[in-house]
Amino acid sequence: HLMASMEVEESYIMIKPDGVQRGLVGEIISRFENKGFKLKGLKLFHCPKQLAEEHYKDLSSKPFFPKLITYITSGPVVCMAWEGVGVVASARKLIGATNPLQAEPGTIRGDLAVQTGRNVVHGSDSPENGKREIALWFKEGELIEWTPVQTQWLV
Ligand code: TYD
Repeated sequence: HLMASMEVEESYIMIKPDGVQRGLVGEIISRFENKGFKLKGLKLFHCPKQLAEEHYKDLSSKPFFPKLITYITSGPVVCMAWEGVGVVASARKLIGATNPLQAEPGTIRGDLAVQTGRNVVHGSDSPENGKREIALWFKEGELIEWTPVQTQWLV
């Protein structure tokens, strides 16, 4: 199988409206913090329809697209930018399969969700999309460059 990337990357991670409504924000953020990734951006945000459509534009021809847009714009989401070595693929593993019934126990969706259309969290599927999505969801001043003091155990 493919070797995990050793590149420092960025991933756009978003807690979807059901995750916020169900009070899972702290639980989900903790999974990425505990893993050892670095948080660069964080906000609660009510997504306008146009932004949701741009974010999911590759899926615009799918039959579930209208429902997906209604779901994502139905309430506030938590937008996050996470940085780290191999963060894109690692975040996808932490999140688990798109269909939560197929997601392994121990993953966010495997532990916390049941329905594909209510799968609590989004994670970028490539480093390129990580950059694209972070630029889409965050304004420049909202992303913070900082150096964690205790990195020697993680890198
Ligand atoms: P996708 O990018 O395929 O999955 P992932 O979020 O795991 O990267 O699809 C985006 C979202 O679209 C997915 O999280 C939930 C929704 N979706 C449906 O509602 N029905 C479906 O059949 C699929 C494939 C996705």
